[in-house]
Amino acid sequence: MTEPQLRHLLSISDLSRTMAEQILKTAQAFHEIGKRPVRKVPTLRGKTVINVFYEASTRTRTSFELAGKRLSADVVNIGGSSSSTSKGESLRDTVLTLDAMHASVIVLRHAVSGAAHYVARNTRAAVINAGDGMHEHPTQALLDVFTIRQHKGNDLGGLTVTICGDIQHSRVARSNVQLLRLLGARVRLAGPRTLLPHRTEALGVETFDRLEPALEGADVVMMLRIQRERLGAALFPSSREYARYFGLNARRLSLASPEAIVMHPGPINRGVEISDDVADGPHSVILGQVEAGVAVRMAVLYFLASEPGAEATPA
Ligand code: CP
Repeated sequence: MTEPQLRHLLSISDLSRTMAEQILKTAQAFHEIGKRPVRKVPTLRGKTVINVFYEASTRTRTSFELAGKRLSADVVNIGGSSSSTSKGESLRDTVLTLDAMHASVIVLRHAVSGAAHYVARNTRAAVINAGDGMHEHPTQALLDVFTIRQHKGNDLGGLTVTICGDIQHSRVARSNVQLLRLLGARVRLAGPRTLLPHRTEALGVETFDRLEPALEGADVVMMLRIQRERLGAALFPSSREYARYFGLNARRLSLASPEAIVMHPGPINRGVEISDDVADGPHSVILGQVEAGVAVRMAVLYFLASEPGAEATPA
């Protein structure tokens, strides 16, 4: 297999279609390893992965830790309140400190858009953007596409994916739109006008300020959380009002394809963007997304940190 030349993963725009396909294919092999009694390979023995999370996370942080450990890397986690950042240390000095310890990979989650790019300019380590402000969350998009392919096959051409919610503040939407378009899917964005981006023509997507027409015949329905932490002012009247017009319930889901899958990156606000019966119902693949996250992050770590010629999954 020809390995893609990937120095960092800061944005989906770092990936060609070939690279994205190779990461997804490698993730499939790691997904199989996740089903073995011993879920571990020696691929990254001797490498150091440092997870630096300045924002809360359950799925991304845990899955990067598991991914590194399953690849036999040494994995260290640091967070905002437990690091010397709480004593006033700058991001640059934190990164130079981790660099001096010969980190192989720094996985960064930060509230500021562009923080991962800044870190990449100040370290010899490979940097993975695990979510930077309203900018991007590229490994989330990769695991979402991995999950879609598990249910709909590898060719995304002809699939209609509806992404609904707070698009404007969503790094998940930004990364997903790029990756889904790169792989040939049709993308619809739906949400209140105040939560839709202003200029979408260049993205090659359709936008809807009502949920119902955006759902018609959709193969994939991806619901997003309202990013309350990023809303500067009230951009919709109330959660109740939001649920009334943009919440996904069984009645609205019946407008989509009968075989539609329902996705959500988590965390979920039940009863706001999605009802309990849909989140836990037969169309939901939300926990499958979580499972895919470990395999996809193993694949990304493999492409960024393994020695040239190293097998992804030695027997
Ligand atoms: N999807 C996602 O990024 O979830 P966490 O915030 O729990 O990592």
